[in-house]
Amino acid sequence: MNISGKKCLVIGASSGIGAELSRQLASHGCPVALVSRREDQLNSLADDINRIAGRNLARVYPADVTDYAAAPKILQQVIGELGGLDVVVYSSGTMPKVGADEYNTEKDIGMVEVNLLGAIAWLNPVAERFAKTKSGVIVGIGSVAGDRGRRGMPVYNTTKAALETYLEALRNRLGQYGVQVTTIKPGFIRTPMTEGLSIPLPAGTPEKTAADIIAAIESGAGVTYTPGFWRYVMTLIKLLPSPVMQKLSF
Ligand SMILES: NC(=O)c1ccc[n+]([C@@H]2O[C@H](COP(=O)([O-])OP(=O)(O)OC[C@H]3O[C@@H](n4cnc5c(N)ncnc54)[C@H](OP(=O)(O)O)[C@@H]3O)[C@@H](O)[C@H]2O)c1
Repeated sequence: MNISGKKCLVIGASSGIGAELSRQLASHGCPVALVSRREDQLNSLADDINRIAGRNLARVYPADVTDYAAAPKILQQVIGELGGLDVVVYSSGTMPKVGADEYNTEKDIGMVEVNLLGAIAWLNPVAERFAKTKSGVIVGIGSVAGDRGRRGMPVYNTTKAALETYLEALRNRLGQYGVQVTTIKPGFIRTPMTEGLSIPLPAGTPEKTAADIIAAIESGAGVTYTPGFWRYVMTLIKLLPSPVMQKLSF
C-alpha cells in the first residue's frame, strides 16, 4: 500500500510512538483520527499537525480504551467523519514499574485491560469492517518483551505475547480478504514510557520507529522488529533454555 493520503486511525496517539506516527502520517497527506484519554494532548497535537499541513488533517476523539463498549461507536463516528478508513494502528499501552518481589493484581489487570482487552475491543470491529470491504491495514504495537517471559515484568510480557498471538490469528483470518495485519515489535524506544529506565542496548527514537511502521505498512510486512537489530537479539534470546533464563536478572 502507498500510504499517501490514506485515511488513518491511531489509538494511543497522545504521546510517544503514536504521537510521532500521527505526525508522520499527516506529513504523507493522511487524514488522521487521534484517540486516547488526554484530550489536551490530543488537541495540541492536532493543532500542530493542522498548522503544519495548512489544512484540517487531524481530528480528536478522546476515549479510554478500557471503555470497551464505546469502541464500535467511536469507530463509526471516525469512519463517517473521515469518509472511510484504510489504516488502523493500536499503540495504546502501559508498563508501570513492577518491583522484583511485587505481585500486584490490580496493577496487572490494568495492563491486561489497556494492552490486550482494549486492542481486542477496537480491532474486532475494525477486522469485521475490513473483511467486508476487502481492504485495509491493521497495525498492532507489540514488543520484544512478548518473545519471552522474564522475571522483571511478568504481566507486561504476557500482554504483549497475547496481543501478538491475537494479531497473528487476525492475519491468518483476514489474509484471504486482502487485509494486511502487521505486528510491530519495538525494542527500547525513548518515550515517556521508558523515561528514567536504565536501557541496556542502544535505544531507538520515536521518529525512526514511526518511519519503520510506515515502511512496514507500505511493504506489507507481517512482523517487523524496530530497531532492526532486535530481530537478531531476540532470535538468540528465544533459543536460551529455561534454566539460563532463570539466571538472567532482567
Ligand atoms: N517505548 C518503548 O520502549 C516500547 C517498547 C516496546 C513496545 N512499546 C509499546 O509501544 C506502544 C506505545 O508506547 P510509547 O512508548 O509510545 O508510550 P507512551 O508515550 O507512554 O504512550 C502510551 C499511549 O497509550 C495511551 N494509553 C494509555 N492508557 C490508555 C487508555 N486507558 N486509553 C487510551 N489510551 C491509553 C496513552 O494515552 P493517554 O494517556 O492520553 O490515554 C499514550 O498515548 C505501547 O503499546 C508500548 O507497550 C513501547
